[in-house]
Amino acid sequence: MSQDGSRIGEIDTSRPHPARIYDYLLGGKDNYEVDQQAGDQLAAAAPEVRIGLRANRDFLRRAVRYVVDSGVRQIVDIGTGLPTSPNVHEVAQHTAPDVRVAYVDNDPIVKAHGDALLSGFGTTSIVLADLREPHAVVDHPDVRRIIDFDEPVALLLVAVVHFLTDEDEPAQIVATLRDALPAGSFLVLSHATGDFADRSEAQAVYTRASASLNLRTRTEIEHFFDGFDLVEPGLAQVPFWRPDTPPPPRSAEIGFYGGVARKTG
Ligand SMILES: C[S@@+](CC[C@H](N)C(=O)[O-])C[C@H]1O[C@@H](n2cnc3c(N)ncnc32)[C@H](O)[C@@H]1O
Repeated sequence: MSQDGSRIGEIDTSRPHPARIYDYLLGGKDNYEVDQQAGDQLAAAAPEVRIGLRANRDFLRRAVRYVVDSGVRQIVDIGTGLPTSPNVHEVAQHTAPDVRVAYVDNDPIVKAHGDALLSGFGTTSIVLADLREPHAVVDHPDVRRIIDFDEPVALLLVAVVHFLTDEDEPAQIVATLRDALPAGSFLVLSHATGDFADRSEAQAVYTRASASLNLRTRTEIEHFFDGFDLVEPGLAQVPFWRPDTPPPPRSAEIGFYGGVARKTG
């Protein structure tokens, strides 16, 4: 925790960070040697990891297009990661230029890069806040400036909830966010799993990083959608959620579930 008692970290380049490991594995440049070493160890432990992260990114793109096609014009993207083309607002605004996006991440490096690349268009903001403090996220002035919580919102929790431990009570956190959303809102969520291969070695890489990797089963992940109705095809391995290209090689091993659900009540 920082001096003010919040969970927002200082910039720490001595330990691998999830955002920068992910950036490295996606071929980005916003990472350090410790992140590259962790990324290489992950790729050794889970040989399909790069394919899996790209498939997760493609799921994100298709899911954003789906919610915008469904009429949503506001997106809150928590655990947004380092800017990666195409970014969420680029995908959304390609379909509907009036979509507004509030990006949220607890990594100060993401905020610094996001300030340069993601904000400043009047329809986007980037906020340094922690998913483990959901009230602080929805009440943040730079979220409220962009998002009207009386109108439907798409809440994106893509490849982030697995960085919450069971002690963090992730289901309660998601429920708190859900309760802030009006009917007609959507939850887009993806999450790492060990259901398709033993991922204990990959998990071990994260014990040295700034956040642990908490793999969960299909049943556990489905609970995050309580209070929402999953749209077809339900929770699926990310390459198989409404694919618009043939699935990549090794898709059956990809350890990410993804789903999109609508809040009806
Ligand atoms: C693997 S990246 C996912 C990026 C993007 N959502 C995607 O799927 O392409 C996970 C991101 O979540 C952020 N993160 C991890 N724990 C978080 C927390 N407790 N609160 C907010 N962001 C968090 C990390 O800093 C990182 O940027």
